[in-house]
Amino acid sequence: MKFLDEIEPVKQAALAQLGAASDLAQLEQARVDFLGSHGKFTGLMKQLGALPKEEKPAAGKAVNAAKVELEAALAARRGELELRAALPTEPTDFTLPGRRRPLGKLHPLTQVTEDIVRSFRKIGFVVADGPEVENEYYCFDALNTPADHPARDTQDTFFLQAPGEQGGKPAAGTLLRTHTSSVQIRVMEKQAPPVRIIVPGRVYRRDNADATHNPTFHQVEGLYVDRGVTVSDLKGTVEFVFRELMGEETRIRFRPHYFSYTEPSFEIDFSSGLTRKMGKEWLEIAGCGMVHPKVFENVGYDPEVWTGWAFGFGIERIAMIRYGINDIRLFYENDTRFLRQF
Ligand code: DAH
Repeated sequence: MKFLDEIEPVKQAALAQLGAASDLAQLEQARVDFLGSHGKFTGLMKQLGALPKEEKPAAGKAVNAAKVELEAALAARRGELELRAALPTEPTDFTLPGRRRPLGKLHPLTQVTEDIVRSFRKIGFVVADGPEVENEYYCFDALNTPADHPARDTQDTFFLQAPGEQGGKPAAGTLLRTHTSSVQIRVMEKQAPPVRIIVPGRVYRRDNADATHNPTFHQVEGLYVDRGVTVSDLKGTVEFVFRELMGEETRIRFRPHYFSYTEPSFEIDFSSGLTRKMGKEWLEIAGCGMVHPKVFENVGYDPEVWTGWAFGFGIERIAMIRYGINDIRLFYENDTRFLRQF
């Protein structure tokens, strides 16, 4: 038989065996039988070399064309068989009840934070951010609270050890921030006035957990710097935001207080249906004041030109008053019976 005529029957036999393979093992056997190193088709290719010179071009072309065809058929069949192997062997019972995927929702603290941010955005504030791992400069010194200042005792925090440091000595001034006020400094250092920011974020204190304390909690800081800013701007802004958060009939009042980074400083009380529900007319809710000239000097703002106010309050406290929650620890336990309610 002429060589050219031998190709077709071998190819047909190979295609038949590939097509008949009913699983991947049989397919592999078919491949070995024809295309393996001792396979029948491989045998044809080996004969090419021995052909007379004038027959070689045509024979080579025919063998190659057949080989391409066989490899394509092999790949196609492999695809089919792999797909079949991946399908379930048992029939699916479509009448079984589906698996419920309960819809999650935002944590109450996230919801309250978003409400606060939304209110401030309406009056032109933007959200700023800063690190939770801070250093003493941003957390205290730059806020006019030097190391010997008594206000530091009320904000005892967690100091961090430098990598490789021995003996529990704190790394040079690295700590978990006690308040989001540190971000005031970070923003003013980078940006020229005017500034209009709010800073929601997590803060840390060395408190034992009880119904009203937790070593980590959340605050919102606000800072407004421009020319000619006054206490009445502060009061108007605070009133606007608390009415948005706690209802239209909310009233606020300022009581003189002390913070080292503001002068004068105030504590903010508010009164609404919510406070009366808790048996009180006024509830303390935030601290605030006019930015201290020292703070401006520390960030390179000229206190003769720029004025501003700042405030800070706890997000948990707002959420607790708003929803009538009596234990702060509920926020962190991730009990869905609690979280579902918001
Ligand atoms: N940082 C204060 C705290 O954690 C809250 C605060 C009070 C922030 C007065 C201010 C402020 O910006 O002016 O208790």
